[in-house]
Amino acid sequence: ETIQLNIDKALSSVTKEQVFAYEKEVAESMEKLHKGTGKGNDFLGWLHLPSSITDAHLSEIEAAAKQLRERCEIVVVIGIGGSYLGAKAVIEALSDTFAQIKGNGNNPQVLFAGQNIGEDYLYELQQVLAGKQFGLINISKSGTTTEPAIAFRLLKKQLEAQVGKEEAKHRIIAVTDAARGALRKLADMEGYKTFVIPDNVGGRFSVLTPVGLLPIAVAGFDIRSLVSGAASMEQLCGAEVPFEKNPAAIYAATRNALYKIGQKIEILVNFNPKLHFFAEWWKQLYGESEGKDHKGIFPASVDFTTDLHSMGQWIQDGERSIFETVLSVNKMKYNVTIPTDEDNLDGLNFLAGKRVDQVNKMAELGTQIAHVDGGVPNLRIEMPEITEKYLGELIYFFEKACGISGYLLGVNPFDQPGVEAYKKNMFALLEKPGYEEETKAIKAKL
Ligand code: PA5
Repeated sequence: ETIQLNIDKALSSVTKEQVFAYEKEVAESMEKLHKGTGKGNDFLGWLHLPSSITDAHLSEIEAAAKQLRERCEIVVVIGIGGSYLGAKAVIEALSDTFAQIKGNGNNPQVLFAGQNIGEDYLYELQQVLAGKQFGLINISKSGTTTEPAIAFRLLKKQLEAQVGKEEAKHRIIAVTDAARGALRKLADMEGYKTFVIPDNVGGRFSVLTPVGLLPIAVAGFDIRSLVSGAASMEQLCGAEVPFEKNPAAIYAATRNALYKIGQKIEILVNFNPKLHFFAEWWKQLYGESEGKDHKGIFPASVDFTTDLHSMGQWIQDGERSIFETVLSVNKMKYNVTIPTDEDNLDGLNFLAGKRVDQVNKMAELGTQIAHVDGGVPNLRIEMPEITEKYLGELIYFFEKACGISGYLLGVNPFDQPGVEAYKKNMFALLEKPGYEEETKAIKAKL
């Protein structure tokens, strides 16, 4: 079993011919990726990452994770963007929703920081960590990103104050560039255990490097299964797989065909709250890869049925510029049956004896029919269950399709020049040394 893409319910808006018209361009995009002849070709390390990860590398990650797991009740993963979302997505998808209240078995709680500049967030986190045995994984490819740097400065000081500098060294792991950046320098000077983010893997494509794998292993999940799922998708989406059998090719072609006819917003839909952060990871992957040169499908997401009671109205009846890609999970982990009630005051006895998921599945089917009838093309990705293996498949599938899709659109899918604009202004406003001219210019605008 593998994840399955189905585009049948998008074919009322675009024809199969319109999708298949992309076959040649997809082949060209695929060739650019595999031969490294396209834009951003120094960032293609993710392409063969799953199949090239060695057993020794995985063992090193597992050993480092074990060290943190043995010493810590809480591990704070510090990072933002691509240095945050992959781990967050996988851990949330696999975790008990209420683990922070129930406890997490033998596993440490994994919390996140550095993904915002929330003063209260950091204060409240510091309170949680007070008196606790905690450790830090500090992740930054550039090693100079402000948000995680602030969080690390605060939490490193707290950790050293709580356990002393020597013990703190055994509880801090840095994931960063091999040679460059402030984090590399700091880690080398302090003697932290480090993992390297390869030069040729960009942040949003880095979940299958220690950026994602280390926090996921610390949380107690099976990174070998995750990587092997991704490796099987690497095969299934390979350059030699014919267009009609290649899910990444079909997905990239369909969404571009839809974009061409004016469906400029893609909504990633889930009917399982555990996938909320998977959609956040997906939005970063597609948003940062494609939103440039004043082009690109806008990636949005909703959690159904929750958001059927908010965004559902817009999706059913609003401007017809959207399409949906639904992540559908076949099998739940647990079984909850709706009980019979003698009084039946809520009128729900017609559901008695049915599993909750049967209701959810009919909500899903009913929604699909309603939205397709309402003019919303619907792509569907079926996932047998939420496990490491299928998440690995999904990750690689979306990455490969993203590379192809970006080239179809004519952009460089592997850079993110637009992310710098806010940083420049923020530094100018904060009067960072070296930004004197920018400070003067921005102050004149206020
Ligand atoms: O995808 C990207 O490249 C970005 O989202 C980065 O991951 C993010 O800005 C964090 O960068 P860094 O890992 O250098 O701190």
